[in-house]
Amino acid sequence: MMWSRSSATHVARGIAALLGSSLIFHLAECSSSLLPRVLEPLPLGSISAEGWLHDQLQLMSDGLAGHEHDFYLYVSNSSWLGGTYEYSELNEGFPYWFNGLVPLAYTLNDERLKTQVLESVDYVISHQQADGWLGPETNVSARNIWARFPFFLGLTQLVEAENGTDVATRVLDSMHTFVNLLYSMLEDDLRGYVSQTSAPIDDLWPRARAADMIVSLQWLYEHDPRNDTNVLFGCMDLLYEKASNWSSWYADDLYIKGDLDDVPLNITDYYYAYEHGVNVGQGYKFGAVVSRFTGDESIADSSRTAVNWTLTYHGQPSGVMIADERLSGLSPVRGVELCAVVESLYSLNYLYQTLGDSGFADNAERVAYNALPVMLVPNWWAHQYVAQTNQPVSHTLTQSPFYNVDDEGQHFGLAPNYPCCTVNHPQGYPKFVSNSYVRVGDNGIAQALLGPTSVNTTTNSGVAVSVSVDSLYPFVYELTYTVQASDAFDFYVRVPGWATGASFISINSGPSAALETDSGTSLHHISVGKGQTTIYYSLTGEIRVADRANDTVSIYHGPFLYTIAPGENYTTYSSNYPDAPAGAEEYNIYPTSTWALAIDPSTLEYNAPSSDATLPNPIWSLNAPPVSISATVCEIAWNLTYGYAPNPPLKGDRDCIGDSFQTKLVPYGSAKLHIAEIPTVDLS
Ligand SMILES: *[C@@H]1O[C@H](CO)[C@@H](O)[C@H](O)[C@H]1NC(C)=O
Ligand SMILES: *[C@@H]1O[C@H](CO)[C@@H](O)[C@H](O)[C@H]1NC(C)=O
Ligand SMILES: *[C@@H]1O[C@H](CO)[C@@H](O)[C@H](O)[C@H]1NC(C)=O
Ligand SMILES: *[C@@H]1O[C@H](CO)[C@@H](O)[C@H](O)[C@H]1NC(C)=O
Ligand SMILES: *[C@@H]1O[C@H](CO)[C@@H](O)[C@H](O)[C@H]1NC(C)=O
Ligand SMILES: *[C@@H]1O[C@H](CO)[C@@H](O)[C@H](O)[C@H]1NC(C)=O
Ligand SMILES: *[C@@H]1O[C@H](CO)[C@@H](O)[C@H](O)[C@H]1NC(C)=O
Ligand SMILES: *[C@@H]1O[C@H](CO)[C@@H](O)[C@H](O)[C@H]1NC(C)=O
Ligand SMILES: *[C@@H]1O[C@H](CO)[C@@H](O)[C@H](O)[C@H]1NC(C)=O
Ligand SMILES: *[C@@H]1O[C@H](CO)[C@@H](O)[C@H](O)[C@H]1NC(C)=O
Ligand SMILES: *[C@@H]1O[C@H](CO)[C@@H](O)[C@H](O)[C@H]1NC(C)=O
Repeated sequence: MMWSRSSATHVARGIAALLGSSLIFHLAECSSSLLPRVLEPLPLGSISAEGWLHDQLQLMSDGLAGHEHDFYLYVSNSSWLGGTYEYSELNEGFPYWFNGLVPLAYTLNDERLKTQVLESVDYVISHQQADGWLGPETNVSARNIWARFPFFLGLTQLVEAENGTDVATRVLDSMHTFVNLLYSMLEDDLRGYVSQTSAPIDDLWPRARAADMIVSLQWLYEHDPRNDTNVLFGCMDLLYEKASNWSSWYADDLYIKGDLDDVPLNITDYYYAYEHGVNVGQGYKFGAVVSRFTGDESIADSSRTAVNWTLTYHGQPSGVMIADERLSGLSPVRGVELCAVVESLYSLNYLYQTLGDSGFADNAERVAYNALPVMLVPNWWAHQYVAQTNQPVSHTLTQSPFYNVDDEGQHFGLAPNYPCCTVNHPQGYPKFVSNSYVRVGDNGIAQALLGPTSVNTTTNSGVAVSVSVDSLYPFVYELTYTVQASDAFDFYVRVPGWATGASFISINSGPSAALETDSGTSLHHISVGKGQTTIYYSLTGEIRVADRANDTVSIYHGPFLYTIAPGENYTTYSSNYPDAPAGAEEYNIYPTSTWALAIDPSTLEYNAPSSDATLPNPIWSLNAPPVSISATVCEIAWNLTYGYAPNPPLKGDRDCIGDSFQTKLVPYGSAKLHIAEIPTVDLS
């Protein structure tokens, strides 16, 4: 996170000068309305997790996420809560934590966590400053609005979950007071947003991440506009006007498609705002967010390009960008930051709802079921800062291969490299769950993201609907829904891109019907009557082999990426953090079997789960998932350098050392040690 602040500020200002110079902005031309979303989100609290996914949220509550408020000083003694601890002058630690703990607490309905959230928010809003500022910064010149963005995202979720209570009213009052202050600051020469000589702030982050605040302003307009419609739209306009313009970045003559290490520093430094991995994840949604209030649907297209180009030119096979702070190229040595993983996931959920392209939802599932769980130890007490695609060992490296992540960055611990992911990672699964069902049109409800999640809500036209699901998805491609409805309504399920024609649905144990999907959303429609209905949904997939750099492959089945996984030897040592609970430990993980393998892709065979498969808790640990892919492999000469696996040997240097043998590839999320871009070899 700590790239040089002064040069970061300089670069962000340079970009604004470049991109904003031709801007002629007509406030009056913007109408005060928002384009509708294709699919509408449901309020926090209406969706719950079941089965293995509920177990995961419970592990989070019992693990690091649920205990930071007790001991982790950037939360427990945050300057937001009257303490003195911050890891940077951005003061973002508490807001990040809050944004994740609200959905975790209310999705689990966990009273202990709700108390943490409610006591914290009570402190913050009862210390709102006289002019409306939220947060600890009493020096007006030093105020930077950025940390309010994740805090507001947390508040919007809290109000949804507490709808109708005094808490909701107080929070909404406080938000309106702040938004009026924000408008006066933005009108006053963009104070707190764009750095001024009179008030020098680090404006890289608020400008690159402006869309996150606009999301909350739009939420306020849609849920509780009061008399502030003009203020809300005025803030959106002013934020957009000076934002890093992601819509112009994704242009053929500007975007860097190659390896950034090969590009001169004066160029990569200049465009750093657009290359920072977490910014990229947050910026995915910029085009869609902006189009909602400008009415310019062509800008929404840049969100499609954003995701496609990021994954094409800088993508890990697990569905996220390769960016160890800064995007690199496609090397499996380089890493993705955990913050970028959870921000990508949130943006992809937002994009599926707003634009309706099913590819965003497919990608969200790929992230949730691969890139996210691989970065946490199974009990959710320790995480990585960066994950490498090929990572056969996790420990302190003797030399870092990363752009700006230290030699501790790929080991699992309390706060490897930097504290931001300690406080930001908890939003991942809770927001995935709370976005897994949506409203569709007048009288519809859809399961947008497949998984063991249930919903209790109403359609827009008022039909009360409760759907409870019984499923081991994505380990088993079957979902059984029990639906209760107060009247007839439209139920939908999303059909993932990987599912082939053998997939089907059956209503009340009736005949199997083929799936017919909408070409955009990939939703399959089911007419459901009043009363109880049972729906059985079965999907079929095939092994998919994707070519990667330098004659390597990545192997998929369903939403899973499969990987070579050596045996694991976990050793732990103390974090030496004051008053840390027993679980908060640092890990080294060493391979106990050969990882230097080449594969013959013609030998792959899927091992489907048995009909009586069960899922152990925790599920994201080696050999816990009941699925695998058999493959024939052989050992090749490929050794660690500086404590990590370098790029695999090139095709001509892959002679088998010894006989070929069978191994089992396993879901990536369960294998903290993994080779997921596998060198190929012909073993026939
Ligand atoms: C944290 O804050 C509490 C309450 O304000 C205080 O008692 C405690 O000494 C603080 N701990 C540290 C390590 O500063
Ligand atoms: C307030 O912040 C400004 C800008 O960072 C700084 O120059 C000034 O010294 C600060 N004033 C006080 C009283 O801390
Ligand atoms: C509270 O619930 C009502 C009724 O469902 C809804 O109209 C309103 O938008 C909700 N308010 C918020 C802030 O979510
Ligand atoms: C909105 O403005 C009107 C007219 O100025 C005023 O009567 C009303 O009380 C205001 N409502 C709120 C919620 O502030
Ligand atoms: C952002 O870039 C898009 C695409 O180039 C352009 O249409 C739009 O006007 C720009 N917006 C601002 C505020 O500069
Ligand atoms: C980077 O430096 C090169 C060579 O000095 C120059 O031609 C180019 O314009 C510079 N680019 C930027 C974006 O500053
Ligand atoms: C990007 O878009 C192209 C053209 O539509 C498509 O062929 C390709 O699969 C997409 N790539 C990704 C990673 O989404
Ligand atoms: C492919 O191999 C070449 C030669 O070793 C190397 O320079 C390049 O970085 C590799 N590409 C990737 C994407 O790993
Ligand atoms: C759904 O929510 C309503 C209102 O909160 C509650 O009365 C009902 O019992 C819930 N139904 C189920 C099946 O959980
Ligand atoms: C695990 O690693 C530790 C530390 O390197 C070593 O002492 C121990 O023998 C290893 N255990 C196994 C089963 O490999
Ligand atoms: C790999 O390591 C082994 C054992 O340390 C050594 O014998 C071999 O020469 C090394 N191979 C390469 C390609 O560096």
